[in-house]
This record gives sequence, structure tokens and C-alpha cells, in this order.
Amino acid sequence: MRRLILLLPFILFINCKQQPATQTGLITEKAMVVSARDEASQLASDIMQKGGNAFDAMVATELSLVVAYPFAGSVGGGGFMVYRKNNGEVGGIDYREKAPLAAHKDMYLDSLGNVIPGMSTSGGTAVGVPGTVAGVLEVHRKFGKLPLTDIINPIIDFANRGVVVTEKQAKRLEGYRDQFIEANGDGTKFAGPFRAGDTIKYPAYAKTLQKIVEEGRDGFYKGEVAQKLAAFVQENGGLITEEDLAKYEAVWRDPIVFDYKDIKIISMSPPSSGGVTINQMFKMMEPYDISKFGHNSAKTIQLFTEASRRAYADRNYFLGDPDFVDIPYNMILDDEYLQERMANFSFDKATLSSKVSHGEVEIIESAQTTHFSIVDSDGNAVSVTSTLNGGYGSKLYSEELGFFLNNEMDDFSAKPGVPNMFGLIGAEANSIAPEKRMLSSMTPTIVEKDGELYMVVGTPGGSTIITAVAQTILNVYEFNLSMQEAVNAPRFHHQWLPDLVIFEPEGFSEELKTELKSKGYIINEERTPIIGKVDAIRVLPNGKLEGGADKRGDDTAVGF
Ligand code: GLY
Repeated sequence: MRRLILLLPFILFINCKQQPATQTGLITEKAMVVSARDEASQLASDIMQKGGNAFDAMVATELSLVVAYPFAGSVGGGGFMVYRKNNGEVGGIDYREKAPLAAHKDMYLDSLGNVIPGMSTSGGTAVGVPGTVAGVLEVHRKFGKLPLTDIINPIIDFANRGVVVTEKQAKRLEGYRDQFIEANGDGTKFAGPFRAGDTIKYPAYAKTLQKIVEEGRDGFYKGEVAQKLAAFVQENGGLITEEDLAKYEAVWRDPIVFDYKDIKIISMSPPSSGGVTINQMFKMMEPYDISKFGHNSAKTIQLFTEASRRAYADRNYFLGDPDFVDIPYNMILDDEYLQERMANFSFDKATLSSKVSHGEVEIIESAQTTHFSIVDSDGNAVSVTSTLNGGYGSKLYSEELGFFLNNEMDDFSAKPGVPNMFGLIGAEANSIAPEKRMLSSMTPTIVEKDGELYMVVGTPGGSTIITAVAQTILNVYEFNLSMQEAVNAPRFHHQWLPDLVIFEPEGFSEELKTELKSKGYIINEERTPIIGKVDAIRVLPNGKLEGGADKRGDDTAVGF
């Protein structure tokens, strides 16, 4: 009897691991979209209900977020998509912004070689050549099912009708108000003030979309829109020309694909660092039976932190635009190399980041950006993360074209060894060059189990994107949480430098932190903001879909 009592937790645990997690998010039979706003998810779901596929819905979500979520909606920016078709074919597209032709390595340095504060973060000098329109049109050309007009016309109506400001959005707009005015003058429509319940309309964006419907890619990258866009950036001190816009192309790229235990993870390849870094982390954790450690237990946090520390140390040193730098994939993704990196890991004591190589590289990025996940009724899946970089990008809003412009140039290393506005100290691999893409952390990811679609997942959050995506996958796979629970669960983060473990405010006890401190972990004692805003979909054993729409934002799952 005594033995049975002692074994009870173990028996319960085994049973728990074998029972499918109870669903707690929205459940649908056939198709689902989870994005930062209800309106965007609904428009994209409607497209699928009218016979469109996940790729048509991707176009709809991306273009409608400009209205629904201008904070990161990225027609003036760029992004990445990873897809898995229902026949198992996987791929990725890179529509990341590029440096203009006139850009050069030292463009943000003064005559003494010092970084000029603000030059890569605000105003025209911060703007990279936007890629989103090229990206969505290329996705539609290759995989779309419905005519482009059928997808874009409802978004034109939405832009004219406008979006109702939520409580959270009103707070954000107020917080950025002074910056909008500084960038655009006090005549800008974003001078506000806005209250929850107000409606913001985007008739100028509706006209830009109309041009895209009529002329396709050329409607944005050539002619009237391109002229206005280049002129606006140049009036604000930037370098983008009509030639830059005419030359912009989205690029299909093979994703990073790797096995972790009995799941297969498919994630974005460079110029995003997401796939490579998450691959390194999972392979370093693979030898351990994490499910036995317990969700967010000291041992799980230690293992995860040590894997992150080592993977992030490699991240900035080796990674950059693959069209410009040779990335040593064979070395950094090699199993033996990764196990060797963990050779000095012990559950007794933290490894100091100063003892992990490539100590010149520090990463602290902004937590903006947006992610959406889609599965259609045929089982095609897309995972998309896109961004303007900072919240509302460079804060430059084109009144004539109806959207904000990115400040993505700050994701380059302006001067290797000197931090950017988020404290990111980059390496040579990510230095500026004409037409080069800046390194990203965006990690749109798809997971397969037993050869079938299992999960679609991603998040905003700058450098915390990679750890938030990895923890969400572990939450479902190792700890058997439902999709919604996995998304809501409190998160922690470590990125090698600064050598700090950060915890979300709720969900981690003082005892746990004390235990970690006793082992040498340096805990961030200051207020920590939310880590990521994950939007994900899980395929249940019965084939239905469960959404995980992050409670941290206005994120919403919609489907049928
Ligand atoms: N600008 C954020 C990222 O690309 O990771």
C-alpha cells in the first residue's frame, strides 16, 4: 500500500501524459485563423468560407492588420511565412525589408566613427525597402485559389469603414502620441487623442489597395504609389528611391527542418535567426526527459536557460542575410557540436555567459511585431510573422498612402560591438550593405507529429520570440497543456547577454527564484513586461482544431 501511495504521483503523471489535453481554446471543425485582432481573423476566415485556401487567408490577414493593428500591420514593413501543404510539402518565403541601394556600412556613424543616436530608429533614415506587398502577391501567385479582387475588396471596404479602437489600442496610441507628432507634425491623423470605442478609418490605404488590385505588384512598387513612397521617405531624410522599390523581390527559401524526439519542427531560415536558434535549443534539450521535470520547474528552467544561453551566443555571431554571408550550417546545426556545447552544463550550477564563447554579442530587441496562424479545411497550414520593427515602426505615417513605415534598418548592426536602440550588439555578419536584409528573430513555425500537421505557432517579441515559441511547443508536447493553456502559460527568457533570466510578473514563485539564485542564476528583479503574444493552432487527435489566442493582447481565434 505504502509503495502504491509513493507511486501514485508517477502513475497519475504517466496517465496525464497519455491522455490528450483537455481543449480550452476555440474549437472548430475545419478551418481557423488566430491573429492579433478579431477583425483580421474574421476577414481571413470569411475568405476561407468563400472557398479560399490558407494562402488566400494569409493575404487577407496580412493586408487587414494594417487597419486592425497598425502597431505592427506591415504593408510598410516586411515578414516571413512558413507553410506546410496538406500533402506534406513545406517551404518558406522571405519578404524581409532590404537596405536601400545608397545604404552603406557606416551610414549611421559620425565623422569620429560613433553611432549617431536615433538615426536608425526614427525618421526616413530608419526605413528599409518594404517587402510585404511583394510577399503576399508572390504567395498568391504561387498558391492562391480565389481571384485577388475577391480577397482585397473586403479589406478595401474594411479600410473605408474603419476599425473600432480597443482599450489596449487606445493606451498604445496615447503612449506613442508625442512620437507621432514629432515624426509627422501635429496635423497627423494620429495626433488623436483616441478613446476606446472611437473608429479610425483608412481611406488612403483603401486607395493604395485599389492600385494593387488593378496593377498587382506594379501598383505598389512602380508608378504613383512608388513615387509618393520614395518622395515621402526622402523628404524625411531617407534614402529609398523608386529604383529600390522597383527592384524589391520576395525570396522563396527552404525552411529549417529538424526532428525533436518524435515531432518534426519546421521554422524560418536566415535572414531570420529563428529557425537556426530554435533548432540549436531543441537539440541541446533533446537528451533530457523534460516532461518528468515538470512545467516551469527549476530543472526545466535551468535546462531551457542553458540551451538558450548557448544558442543565442551563436545567433548573432554567425547569422546574417544568406545572400551576403556564408552561414556555417553544417557546424552550428551538427548534433555533435550541439552536445559538445552542453558538455559543461550541470543542474548544480549556472554556466556564466562570460564563459560561453562569442561574448562580444548582446541582444535586446523590441517586443513589437505580429504573428498569425492559419489552417484551412484542406489541411494546408501557414505560419506568418511580420513587422514594422518598433511599435508603429519609424512613426512616419504616409497620409497619402495610409500606412506606417518601418524602422527595420535598426536590426542591422550599425557598428559591430555597439548596441542599437534595444541594446543589440551585432557582428560583422549583420553589417549594413546595399540591398542586404537585416537579421531577424521572427520564428514562424509549424510542427508535425507522426507525419501529420500538429501545431502552427509564432509570436512577436523581438529576441524573446524564439524562447516564447520554444516554450509553447514544449508546453503542448512535453507538458500536455491544451493549446490555449500553452499560450497563456507564464513565460521566462534568457538570451545569453545580458546574463539575466527574466520572468513574467505572474506565475513564478519566490521559492523557485530563490532556488535558481542559489545555483548562480542572475534573476531580473525589475518589472518584466509580457514575453511574446503567441497565436497558435493545434490539430486535435479527432482532426478538429484548437486555437490558442494570447490573453496578453486583443488576439482572437476565428474559424468554422
Ligand atoms: N524587428 C524584429 C525582428 O525582425 O525580429
